[in-house]
Amino acid sequence: MKVLITGGTGYIGSHVAVELLKAGHDVVLFDNLSTSTSQVAAAIGAIADREIPLIVGDVRDSGALNAVLKTYAFDAVLHLAGVKAVGESVASPLMYYDNNVCGTVRLLECMVAHDVKTLVFSSSMTVYGVPEVLPISEDSPPVPTNPYGRSKLIVENMLKDLHRADGCWRISILRYFNPIGGHASGQLGEDLCGSSSNLMSYIGQVALGRRPYLAIFGDDYPTSDGTCIRDYIHVVDLAKGHLQALAFLAAGPKLAIHNLGTGVRYSVREVVRAFESVSGHPIPCKVVGRRLGDIAECYADPSRAWEELGWKAELGLEQMCQDAWYFLCKMQGRPLNP
Ligand code: NAD
Ligand code: UFG
Repeated sequence: MKVLITGGTGYIGSHVAVELLKAGHDVVLFDNLSTSTSQVAAAIGAIADREIPLIVGDVRDSGALNAVLKTYAFDAVLHLAGVKAVGESVASPLMYYDNNVCGTVRLLECMVAHDVKTLVFSSSMTVYGVPEVLPISEDSPPVPTNPYGRSKLIVENMLKDLHRADGCWRISILRYFNPIGGHASGQLGEDLCGSSSNLMSYIGQVALGRRPYLAIFGDDYPTSDGTCIRDYIHVVDLAKGHLQALAFLAAGPKLAIHNLGTGVRYSVREVVRAFESVSGHPIPCKVVGRRLGDIAECYADPSRAWEELGWKAELGLEQMCQDAWYFLCKMQGRPLNP
């Protein structure tokens, strides 16, 4: 297939590109480089041993999108472009609705104009809000608690309406849990320069000496060690889920929603310990107050993805930490162990 990846030079998009290329698909990356760089396209090319086209453009710019859709006859679009920081979305909600919602409207209009009706959309476990039942299945009612989550849910609902109006669409909505880690080559990973406020970014910053300690947001939750529980998933496993989603859509028109998580639970302290063990770096921690809006426990029921996509996560927490650390060391040009 010939596949357009919006947000293709981002953290997840770059890993998705590599998996698609490995499987023999052709990819074109489309990205405004707001939180990534063109060097990522070069790194993807180095891993895949071929040059990968990167179109620098914004999904809100119909002219740029129409040009790329006219140039290449795409079979499918993977739409990952967007903004993703919860705190920033609370402070600047319009920026989130503009980028995540308006950007998707523009993209869909252009896809219709060029008769490309196969889409995989990056949604988030954030759409669930505070879960009523654990593990979280796709049937849990989505009640997002912040503008970022609401922007994702608006797009999900828009996609359902689109599919109702035109049954030819093939749409896969993937709700990611907590992706961490990087490519085994050490060439791709989550850049600390981006806007990410995720746990692994902060652990990385402490390990590199950019922060004196990790602030643990509360250890008085009703969990085994008092810190929050999440479902961390290796970004390469997550990327492979997109490949399976595309194969699933190839069978015919449909709209489907799948959780991409492991179903395995880790506390903040367990992630810190795993990182310390693989990196050999102590990560000093300081327990501070709870972070506003944090949920005590959140993990996926990934069974539908296994039953319908034939996909399940394979890599464990140690590998996630190892690959995240390898990427950071390579980026800094420093040896793996202290
Ligand atoms: P990222 O910031 O690394 O990647 C997003 C990419 O999109 C960046 O390269 C950025 O430059 C680009 N971009 C942003 N706005 C754009 C626009 N208007 N036009 C063109 N390009 C644009 O983030 P990521 O972690 O790779 O996330 C990818 C997608 O997955 C996002 O939609 C995000 O909401 C979703 N998601 C991420 C996580 C996570 O924890 N990383 C979890 C759930 C869902
Ligand atoms: N945490 C800390 N200290 C930090 C950063 C995080 O203790 O410096 C804790 C948080 O309190 C939470 C856990 O680590 O308990 C994970 O936090 P993240 O910020 O990495 O991830 P969240 O589960 O809070 O969710 C975030 C966004 C979601 C998004 C999800 C997956 O809020 O919208 O990441 O990427 F879907």
